Amino acid sequence: RMEPLIDPFARRIDYLRISVTDRCDFRCTYCMSEHMTFLPKRDLLTLEELDRLCSAFVRMGVRKLRITGGEPLVRRGIMTFFEAMSRNLGAGLDELTLTTNGSQLDRFAQPLAAAGVRRVNVSLDTLDPEKFKTITRWGALPKVLRGIDAARAAGMRVKINAVALKGFNEAELFDLTDWAAREDLDLTFIEVMPMGDMGDGTDGTLRLDQYWPLKDLRARLAERYTLTELAHRTGGPARYVRLEETGQQIGFITPLTHNFCESCNRVRLTCTGQLYMCLGQEDMADLRAPLRASESDAPLEDAIRTAIARKPKGHDFDYSRQRADGQVSRHMSHTGG
Ligand code: GTP
Ligand code: 5AD
Ligand code: SF4
Repeated sequence: RMEPLIDPFARRIDYLRISVTDRCDFRCTYCMSEHMTFLPKRDLLTLEELDRLCSAFVRMGVRKLRITGGEPLVRRGIMTFFEAMSRNLGAGLDELTLTTNGSQLDRFAQPLAAAGVRRVNVSLDTLDPEKFKTITRWGALPKVLRGIDAARAAGMRVKINAVALKGFNEAELFDLTDWAAREDLDLTFIEVMPMGDMGDGTDGTLRLDQYWPLKDLRARLAERYTLTELAHRTGGPARYVRLEETGQQIGFITPLTHNFCESCNRVRLTCTGQLYMCLGQEDMADLRAPLRASESDAPLEDAIRTAIARKPKGHDFDYSRQRADGQVSRHMSHTGG
Protein backbone atom coordinates (compact mmCIF):
# COMPACT_ATOMS: atom_id res chain seq x y z
CA ARG A 1 0.00 0.00 0.00
CA MET A 2 1.10 3.51 -0.78
CA GLU A 3 0.57 6.91 0.81
CA PRO A 4 -3.17 7.58 1.11
CA LEU A 5 -4.75 10.26 -1.07
CA ILE A 6 -5.27 13.45 0.93
CA ASP A 7 -6.60 16.58 -0.75
CA PRO A 8 -5.61 20.20 -0.03
CA PHE A 9 -8.41 20.51 2.54
CA ALA A 10 -7.15 17.51 4.53
CA ARG A 11 -9.97 15.30 3.29
CA ARG A 12 -9.01 11.69 2.80
CA ILE A 13 -10.16 10.40 -0.58
CA ASP A 14 -11.12 6.78 -0.11
CA TYR A 15 -14.25 6.48 -2.27
CA LEU A 16 -14.18 6.21 -6.06
CA ARG A 17 -17.29 6.24 -8.24
CA ILE A 18 -16.76 4.86 -11.72
CA SER A 19 -19.07 5.20 -14.66
CA VAL A 20 -18.40 2.12 -16.79
CA THR A 21 -20.63 3.20 -19.66
CA ASP A 22 -22.62 6.28 -20.66
CA ARG A 23 -25.25 4.01 -22.24
CA CYS A 24 -28.51 3.13 -20.65
CA ASP A 25 -31.56 1.12 -21.59
CA PHE A 26 -33.81 3.83 -20.06
CA ARG A 27 -34.01 7.54 -20.81
CA CYS A 28 -35.15 9.09 -17.53
CA THR A 29 -36.43 12.52 -18.39
CA TYR A 30 -34.30 14.29 -15.77
CA CYS A 31 -31.21 12.50 -17.01
CA MET A 32 -31.22 12.14 -20.79
CA SER A 33 -33.10 13.32 -23.81
CA GLU A 34 -34.93 10.69 -25.78
CA HIS A 35 -32.43 10.93 -28.62
CA MET A 36 -29.33 10.90 -26.53
CA THR A 37 -26.12 10.49 -28.52
CA PHE A 38 -23.77 8.06 -26.88
CA LEU A 39 -19.99 8.08 -27.08
CA PRO A 40 -18.28 5.94 -29.70
CA LYS A 41 -17.34 2.66 -28.03
CA ARG A 42 -13.65 3.10 -28.88
CA ASP A 43 -13.53 6.11 -26.54
CA LEU A 44 -14.47 3.96 -23.56
CA LEU A 45 -11.87 2.49 -21.29
CA THR A 46 -11.56 -1.22 -21.87
CA LEU A 47 -12.40 -3.59 -19.04
CA GLU A 48 -8.67 -4.25 -18.57
CA GLU A 49 -8.01 -0.50 -18.35
CA LEU A 50 -10.79 -0.11 -15.81
CA ASP A 51 -9.23 -2.90 -13.79
CA ARG A 52 -5.76 -1.27 -13.88
CA LEU A 53 -7.17 2.12 -12.93
CA CYS A 54 -9.33 0.89 -10.07
CA SER A 55 -6.58 -1.31 -8.74
CA ALA A 56 -4.23 1.70 -8.73
CA PHE A 57 -6.79 3.66 -6.70
CA VAL A 58 -7.12 0.77 -4.24
CA ARG A 59 -3.34 0.69 -3.78
CA MET A 60 -3.58 4.42 -3.06
CA GLY A 61 -6.08 3.94 -0.28
CA VAL A 62 -9.50 3.77 -1.91
CA ARG A 63 -11.67 1.53 0.26
CA LYS A 64 -14.96 1.81 -1.53
CA LEU A 65 -15.78 1.45 -5.23
CA ARG A 66 -19.19 2.25 -6.57
CA ILE A 67 -19.83 1.18 -10.17
CA THR A 68 -22.32 3.39 -11.99
CA GLY A 69 -23.25 4.50 -15.49
CA GLY A 70 -25.34 5.05 -17.47
CA GLU A 71 -26.55 1.63 -16.60
CA PRO A 72 -23.52 -0.41 -15.54
CA LEU A 73 -25.18 -3.74 -16.25
CA VAL A 74 -25.62 -2.97 -19.96
CA ARG A 75 -21.85 -2.81 -20.45
CA ARG A 76 -20.81 -5.97 -22.26
CA GLY A 77 -18.62 -8.24 -20.16
CA ILE A 78 -19.17 -6.23 -17.02
CA MET A 79 -19.13 -9.34 -14.82
CA THR A 80 -15.50 -9.93 -15.83
CA PHE A 81 -14.72 -6.55 -14.33
CA PHE A 82 -16.65 -7.26 -11.11
CA GLU A 83 -14.88 -10.59 -10.79
CA ALA A 84 -11.53 -8.89 -11.29
CA MET A 85 -12.39 -6.28 -8.65
CA SER A 86 -13.44 -8.88 -6.13
CA ARG A 87 -9.70 -9.79 -5.86
CA ASN A 88 -9.22 -6.41 -4.19
CA LEU A 89 -11.85 -7.12 -1.54
CA GLY A 90 -10.14 -7.67 1.77
CA ALA A 91 -6.89 -6.49 0.20
CA GLY A 92 -7.47 -2.78 0.80
CA LEU A 93 -10.94 -2.62 -0.66
CA ASP A 94 -13.78 -2.84 1.89
CA GLU A 95 -16.77 -2.43 -0.35
CA LEU A 96 -17.61 -3.13 -3.97
CA THR A 97 -21.02 -1.88 -4.94
CA LEU A 98 -23.13 -0.48 -7.75
CA THR A 99 -25.96 1.89 -8.59
CA THR A 100 -28.34 0.48 -11.18
CA ASN A 101 -31.75 1.05 -12.69
CA GLY A 102 -32.51 -2.58 -11.87
CA SER A 103 -33.62 -3.57 -15.36
CA GLN A 104 -31.05 -6.39 -15.60
CA LEU A 105 -30.79 -7.28 -11.94
CA ASP A 106 -32.90 -10.41 -12.13
CA ARG A 107 -30.12 -11.87 -14.30
CA PHE A 108 -27.11 -10.37 -12.57
CA ALA A 109 -28.02 -10.57 -8.88
CA GLN A 110 -26.52 -14.01 -8.29
CA PRO A 111 -23.19 -13.43 -10.04
CA LEU A 112 -22.86 -9.99 -8.41
CA ALA A 113 -23.37 -11.47 -4.96
CA ALA A 114 -20.88 -14.20 -5.83
CA ALA A 115 -18.35 -11.49 -6.72
CA GLY A 116 -18.72 -10.02 -3.23
CA VAL A 117 -21.28 -7.26 -3.81
CA ARG A 118 -23.27 -6.96 -0.58
CA ARG A 119 -25.31 -3.82 -1.27
CA VAL A 120 -26.91 -2.41 -4.37
CA ASN A 121 -28.65 0.91 -4.98
CA VAL A 122 -31.62 0.79 -7.32
CA SER A 123 -33.12 3.94 -8.86
CA LEU A 124 -36.90 3.92 -8.72
CA ASP A 125 -39.05 7.03 -8.59
CA THR A 126 -42.57 5.65 -8.70
CA LEU A 127 -44.54 2.46 -8.00
CA ASP A 128 -47.09 3.16 -10.69
CA PRO A 129 -46.22 1.17 -13.85
CA GLU A 130 -47.65 3.86 -16.16
CA LYS A 131 -45.76 6.66 -14.47
CA PHE A 132 -42.66 4.51 -14.42
CA LYS A 133 -42.97 4.18 -18.16
CA THR A 134 -43.36 7.94 -18.49
CA ILE A 135 -40.37 8.91 -16.39
CA THR A 136 -38.02 6.29 -17.90
CA ARG A 137 -39.65 6.73 -21.34
CA TRP A 138 -40.19 2.97 -21.77
CA GLY A 139 -39.02 1.04 -18.70
CA ALA A 140 -41.03 -1.88 -17.34
CA LEU A 141 -41.63 -1.63 -13.60
CA PRO A 142 -42.39 -5.36 -13.02
CA LYS A 143 -38.98 -6.28 -14.41
CA VAL A 144 -37.27 -3.90 -11.99
CA LEU A 145 -39.31 -5.25 -9.08
CA ARG A 146 -38.24 -8.77 -10.03
CA GLY A 147 -34.65 -7.52 -10.07
CA ILE A 148 -35.03 -6.13 -6.56
CA ASP A 149 -36.41 -9.48 -5.37
CA ALA A 150 -33.55 -11.34 -7.02
CA ALA A 151 -31.02 -9.06 -5.32
CA ARG A 152 -32.53 -9.76 -1.92
CA ALA A 153 -32.77 -13.46 -2.63
CA ALA A 154 -29.06 -13.38 -3.42
CA GLY A 155 -28.44 -11.88 0.02
CA MET A 156 -27.82 -8.27 -0.97
CA ARG A 157 -29.10 -5.26 0.90
CA VAL A 158 -31.07 -2.98 -1.44
CA LYS A 159 -31.34 0.81 -1.24
CA ILE A 160 -33.90 2.60 -3.35
CA ASN A 161 -33.03 6.04 -4.73
CA ALA A 162 -36.07 8.12 -5.60
CA VAL A 163 -35.63 11.49 -7.25
CA ALA A 164 -38.19 13.87 -5.73
CA LEU A 165 -40.08 15.51 -8.57
CA LYS A 166 -42.68 18.16 -8.11
CA GLY A 167 -46.00 17.19 -9.62
CA PHE A 168 -44.74 13.70 -10.39
CA ASN A 169 -44.20 11.58 -7.31
CA GLU A 170 -45.33 14.05 -4.64
CA ALA A 171 -48.58 12.14 -4.15
CA GLU A 172 -46.71 8.86 -3.76
CA LEU A 173 -44.59 9.85 -0.82
CA PHE A 174 -46.37 7.59 1.66
CA ASP A 175 -46.82 4.77 -0.85
CA LEU A 176 -43.08 4.73 -1.32
CA THR A 177 -42.25 4.84 2.39
CA ASP A 178 -44.86 2.17 3.24
CA TRP A 179 -43.63 -0.09 0.47
CA ALA A 180 -40.00 0.29 1.60
CA ALA A 181 -41.02 -0.53 5.19
CA ARG A 182 -42.98 -3.59 4.10
CA GLU A 183 -40.24 -4.87 1.83
CA ASP A 184 -37.42 -3.98 4.24
CA LEU A 185 -35.67 -1.73 1.73
CA ASP A 186 -33.61 1.34 2.55
CA LEU A 187 -34.97 4.44 0.89
CA THR A 188 -33.32 7.73 -0.03
CA PHE A 189 -34.87 10.73 -1.67
CA ILE A 190 -32.74 12.89 -3.95
CA GLU A 191 -33.31 16.49 -4.90
CA VAL A 192 -33.31 16.86 -8.64
CA MET A 193 -30.04 18.32 -9.82
CA PRO A 194 -29.43 20.81 -12.61
CA MET A 195 -27.78 18.35 -14.94
CA GLY A 196 -28.47 16.47 -18.13
CA ASP A 197 -30.59 17.97 -20.85
CA MET A 198 -34.20 18.85 -21.13
CA GLY A 199 -34.90 17.02 -24.35
CA ASP A 200 -35.77 20.22 -26.18
CA GLY A 201 -32.22 21.17 -27.08
CA THR A 202 -31.61 23.13 -23.91
CA ASP A 203 -29.48 21.77 -21.13
CA GLY A 204 -30.85 20.96 -17.73
CA THR A 205 -29.05 23.71 -15.88
CA LEU A 206 -32.26 25.03 -14.45
CA ARG A 207 -34.80 22.45 -13.47
CA LEU A 208 -36.85 24.79 -11.40
CA ASP A 209 -40.19 23.49 -12.62
CA GLN A 210 -39.34 20.03 -11.29
CA TYR A 211 -37.73 21.15 -8.09
CA TRP A 212 -39.40 19.74 -4.97
CA PRO A 213 -37.27 20.78 -2.01
CA LEU A 214 -36.67 17.92 0.38
CA LYS A 215 -37.43 20.11 3.33
CA ASP A 216 -41.04 20.19 2.11
CA LEU A 217 -41.03 16.44 1.69
CA ARG A 218 -39.65 16.07 5.17
CA ALA A 219 -42.30 18.34 6.61
CA ARG A 220 -44.95 16.14 5.02
CA LEU A 221 -43.38 13.03 6.52
CA ALA A 222 -43.41 14.76 9.89
CA GLU A 223 -47.19 15.18 9.65
CA ARG A 224 -47.56 11.44 9.81
CA TYR A 225 -44.46 10.19 11.62
CA THR A 226 -42.19 11.18 14.47
CA LEU A 227 -38.80 11.85 12.87
CA THR A 228 -35.55 11.36 14.72
CA GLU A 229 -32.44 12.81 13.16
CA LEU A 230 -29.61 10.27 12.93
CA ALA A 231 -25.90 10.95 12.98
CA HIS A 232 -24.16 10.90 9.60
CA ARG A 233 -23.52 7.27 8.57
CA THR A 234 -22.18 6.00 5.27
CA GLY A 235 -19.68 8.74 4.50
CA GLY A 236 -21.98 9.51 1.59
CA PRO A 237 -23.98 12.69 1.04
CA ALA A 238 -27.19 11.32 2.53
CA ARG A 239 -28.51 12.39 5.93
CA TYR A 240 -30.92 10.04 7.64
CA VAL A 241 -33.97 10.19 9.85
CA ARG A 242 -35.74 7.34 11.61
CA LEU A 243 -39.52 7.09 11.43
CA GLU A 244 -40.29 6.07 15.00
CA GLU A 245 -43.61 4.40 14.18
CA THR A 246 -42.08 1.94 11.69
CA GLY A 247 -38.43 1.98 12.73
CA GLN A 248 -37.33 2.50 9.15
CA GLN A 249 -34.60 4.89 8.07
CA ILE A 250 -35.12 7.40 5.32
CA GLY A 251 -32.23 9.21 3.66
CA PHE A 252 -32.18 12.63 2.06
CA ILE A 253 -29.67 13.82 -0.50
CA THR A 254 -29.94 17.55 -0.85
CA PRO A 255 -27.02 18.71 -2.94
CA LEU A 256 -28.61 22.09 -3.50
CA THR A 257 -29.83 23.06 -0.08
CA HIS A 258 -27.50 21.23 2.21
CA ASN A 259 -23.83 21.44 1.68
CA PHE A 260 -21.88 18.29 2.50
CA CYS A 261 -18.72 19.31 0.70
CA GLU A 262 -16.72 19.71 3.91
CA SER A 263 -16.72 15.97 4.49
CA CYS A 264 -16.37 14.94 0.84
CA ASN A 265 -14.35 11.73 0.54
CA ARG A 266 -14.86 10.94 -3.13
CA VAL A 267 -13.84 11.52 -6.72
CA ARG A 268 -15.47 10.17 -9.87
CA LEU A 269 -14.13 8.62 -13.00
CA THR A 270 -15.93 8.85 -16.32
CA CYS A 271 -16.21 5.97 -18.72
CA THR A 272 -13.55 7.65 -20.87
CA GLY A 273 -11.02 7.91 -18.07
CA GLN A 274 -11.52 11.48 -16.94
CA LEU A 275 -11.27 12.05 -13.23
CA TYR A 276 -13.68 14.68 -11.92
CA MET A 277 -12.70 16.04 -8.57
CA CYS A 278 -16.21 17.32 -7.80
CA LEU A 279 -19.67 16.54 -9.16
CA GLY A 280 -20.47 20.24 -9.42
CA GLN A 281 -17.23 21.50 -10.95
CA GLU A 282 -15.84 21.20 -14.44
CA ASP A 283 -12.23 20.61 -13.47
CA MET A 284 -10.99 17.19 -14.47
CA ALA A 285 -7.82 15.25 -15.14
CA ASP A 286 -7.36 12.85 -18.00
CA LEU A 287 -6.14 9.47 -16.76
CA ARG A 288 -6.56 7.62 -20.03
CA ALA A 289 -3.42 9.15 -21.57
CA PRO A 290 -1.05 8.11 -18.74
CA LEU A 291 -2.81 4.76 -18.63
CA ARG A 292 -2.24 4.15 -22.33
CA ALA A 293 1.21 5.72 -22.45
CA SER A 294 2.96 3.14 -20.36
CA GLU A 295 2.77 -0.45 -19.18
CA SER A 296 4.04 0.78 -15.85
CA ASP A 297 1.55 2.26 -13.41
CA ALA A 298 3.92 4.96 -12.14
CA PRO A 299 2.79 7.73 -14.57
CA LEU A 300 -0.80 6.89 -13.78
CA GLU A 301 -0.21 7.13 -10.05
CA ASP A 302 1.52 10.48 -10.51
CA ALA A 303 -1.42 11.77 -12.53
CA ILE A 304 -3.84 10.65 -9.82
CA ARG A 305 -1.87 12.40 -7.07
CA THR A 306 -1.56 15.58 -9.12
CA ALA A 307 -5.30 15.56 -9.71
CA ILE A 308 -6.22 15.04 -6.05
CA ALA A 309 -3.94 17.93 -5.16
CA ARG A 310 -6.35 20.22 -7.03
CA LYS A 311 -9.62 18.94 -5.60
CA PRO A 312 -11.75 22.04 -5.04
CA LYS A 313 -13.30 22.95 -1.74
CA GLY A 314 -16.90 22.62 -2.88
CA HIS A 315 -19.46 22.73 -5.64
CA ASP A 316 -21.13 25.60 -7.41
CA PHE A 317 -24.69 24.41 -7.88
CA ASP A 318 -26.92 27.36 -7.37
CA TYR A 319 -30.58 27.67 -8.17
CA SER A 320 -30.76 31.26 -7.01
CA ARG A 321 -28.75 32.67 -9.87
CA GLN A 322 -30.00 32.56 -13.43
CA ARG A 323 -27.55 30.48 -15.45
CA ALA A 324 -24.99 30.45 -12.72
CA ASP A 325 -21.36 30.70 -13.75
CA GLY A 326 -20.78 27.26 -12.36
CA GLN A 327 -23.47 25.73 -14.54
CA VAL A 328 -23.18 22.04 -15.20
CA SER A 329 -24.27 20.83 -18.58
CA ARG A 330 -22.54 17.51 -18.09
CA HIS A 331 -24.55 14.31 -18.04
CA MET A 332 -24.84 12.32 -14.85
CA SER A 333 -24.60 9.15 -16.95
CA HIS A 334 -21.15 10.16 -18.12
CA THR A 335 -19.72 11.05 -14.72
CA GLY A 336 -21.61 8.47 -12.70
CA GLY A 337 -23.54 10.73 -10.35
P1 GTP B 1 -23.82 5.38 -0.51
O1 GTP B 1 -23.60 6.57 0.36
O2 GTP B 1 -22.60 4.61 -0.81
O3 GTP B 1 -24.95 4.51 -0.09
O4 GTP B 1 -24.22 5.84 -1.94
P2 GTP B 1 -24.77 7.16 -2.53
O5 GTP B 1 -26.13 7.42 -2.01
O6 GTP B 1 -23.74 8.22 -2.46
O7 GTP B 1 -24.77 6.69 -4.04
P3 GTP B 1 -25.85 6.67 -5.15
O8 GTP B 1 -25.16 6.19 -6.36
O9 GTP B 1 -27.01 5.89 -4.69
O10 GTP B 1 -26.18 8.16 -5.35
C1 GTP B 1 -27.33 8.75 -4.93
C2 GTP B 1 -27.36 10.18 -5.40
O11 GTP B 1 -26.41 10.95 -4.70
C3 GTP B 1 -27.07 10.35 -6.87
O12 GTP B 1 -28.05 11.19 -7.43
C4 GTP B 1 -25.76 11.02 -6.88
O13 GTP B 1 -25.60 11.83 -7.98
C5 GTP B 1 -25.79 11.81 -5.60
N1 GTP B 1 -24.44 12.05 -5.16
C6 GTP B 1 -23.53 11.10 -4.88
N2 GTP B 1 -22.36 11.68 -4.53
C7 GTP B 1 -22.54 13.01 -4.59
C8 GTP B 1 -21.69 14.14 -4.35
O14 GTP B 1 -20.52 14.02 -4.00
N3 GTP B 1 -22.22 15.36 -4.54
C9 GTP B 1 -23.50 15.54 -4.91
N4 GTP B 1 -23.95 16.77 -5.06
N5 GTP B 1 -24.34 14.51 -5.13
C10 GTP B 1 -23.87 13.26 -4.99
N1 5AD C 1 -30.99 14.96 -10.45
C1 5AD C 1 -30.98 14.10 -9.40
N2 5AD C 1 -30.71 12.80 -9.50
C2 5AD C 1 -30.43 12.33 -10.73
N3 5AD C 1 -30.12 11.09 -11.13
C3 5AD C 1 -29.90 11.14 -12.47
N4 5AD C 1 -30.07 12.39 -12.94
C4 5AD C 1 -30.40 13.16 -11.88
C5 5AD C 1 -30.70 14.53 -11.69
N5 5AD C 1 -30.72 15.41 -12.74
C6 5AD C 1 -30.06 9.96 -10.20
C7 5AD C 1 -30.67 8.67 -10.65
C8 5AD C 1 -29.92 7.67 -9.79
C9 5AD C 1 -28.68 8.38 -9.36
C10 5AD C 1 -27.41 7.70 -9.66
O1 5AD C 1 -28.72 9.62 -9.99
O2 5AD C 1 -32.02 8.58 -10.43
O3 5AD C 1 -30.65 7.30 -8.66
FE1 SF4 D 1 -30.51 5.52 -17.15
FE2 SF4 D 1 -30.16 6.13 -14.56
FE3 SF4 D 1 -30.15 8.05 -16.41
FE4 SF4 D 1 -32.40 6.80 -15.86
S1 SF4 D 1 -31.20 8.09 -14.42
S2 SF4 D 1 -31.63 7.27 -17.92
S3 SF4 D 1 -31.75 4.77 -15.44
S4 SF4 D 1 -28.66 6.45 -16.24
